[in-house]
Amino acid sequence: MGKKLKFNSLVVHGASGYDERTGAVSIPIYQSATFRHRALYDSTGYDYSRLQNPTREELENTIARMDCAKYGFAFSSGMAAITTAAKLFKSGDHIIISDDLYGGTYRLFEEIYKNYGIQTTYVDITNLDEIKGAIRENSKAILYETPTNPMLKVADISKISEIARENNLISIVDNTLYTPYLQKPLTMGADICVYSATKFLAGHNDTLAGLITTNDDEIAHNLKLIQKSEGAVLSPFDSWLVLRGIKTLAIRMERAEKNAKAIYKFLKNHKNVTDVFYSGKGAILSFRVKNVELVHKVLKDVKLIYFAESLGGCETLITYPTVQTHNAIPEDLRNKIGVNDLLLRLSVGIEDKADLIYDLDRALTT
Ligand SMILES: Cc1ncc(COP(=O)(O)O)c(C=O)c1O
Repeated sequence: MGKKLKFNSLVVHGASGYDERTGAVSIPIYQSATFRHRALYDSTGYDYSRLQNPTREELENTIARMDCAKYGFAFSSGMAAITTAAKLFKSGDHIIISDDLYGGTYRLFEEIYKNYGIQTTYVDITNLDEIKGAIRENSKAILYETPTNPMLKVADISKISEIARENNLISIVDNTLYTPYLQKPLTMGADICVYSATKFLAGHNDTLAGLITTNDDEIAHNLKLIQKSEGAVLSPFDSWLVLRGIKTLAIRMERAEKNAKAIYKFLKNHKNVTDVFYSGKGAILSFRVKNVELVHKVLKDVKLIYFAESLGGCETLITYPTVQTHNAIPEDLRNKIGVNDLLLRLSVGIEDKADLIYDLDRALTT
């Protein structure tokens, strides 16, 4: 689109803005599995949708632009994206992983990739000495969320990237919670950025999607090879839904963050809340209540706020990590990182903050 757009304009217009052929301002959904060739060796550039699809390509180019990256890739879910990044490694390789992370990622490594010979060590990602101490001769990567989920601890991406570079590790950041609106890990030295686009990027709790960005030619080549060979690609329609969600990312994040800050203040002062965890940015926060009975009461009594897994949509969701998102993590590790049976996580949406606070106050009051 010529001039480099500011972020608020970029999300609305995406990589190409409109459809060149027709002028459609909403990128068409190219619902075609295959593409006709004009003659032998004369393709339009599109052969078969597992390899390339114009709607998916628009999303891939858009997330690449948003992340200041050369390459973007779209997958059928966030886990498909993380699986693809993990496939860059082979049996005997060791990966250092943040100990506070989405339970599904933990399960992927401990219940699937362990059987393929991938070794792992879990570290407190805010402790640089612990990271350095975990590095072995066969260490190949460091994979982490920041802020962490659900304890909202913030990692120093620049320093971790430096440690990774000095030790020949590929650094992979799961940027699901902040999105490129709040943080662009590749500009801070990370090699790969992964997303559950199911969350803030798509933003409407209506589709599953995953994304990866990178600036590294060799990594991009390998990711493309895995993507087209394994086939966990995002469908044209889901690609379009994510593109549509991205158009409002900036205003949704802005509103949700304002709401989250107001709720943080409210929870800090509530007599039945003992701890509140918030990174100071974004729309996810966690809190502990006084006793387990109160956990049951809150989950039953919230009305406007839905008791449901996931995060990053327009609707405010409350989650019970020990039973839902983080159930795959063994209890001792969960307790070590602070994910106990008194902890609740809120994904703050874009409703009116007064209504959200009213709903929470009613549910929390005994
Ligand atoms: C931080 C984070 N990464 C990855 C995932 C997995 O994404 P998906 O559910 O789209 O497969 C999740 C899902 O909750 C998540 O919260």
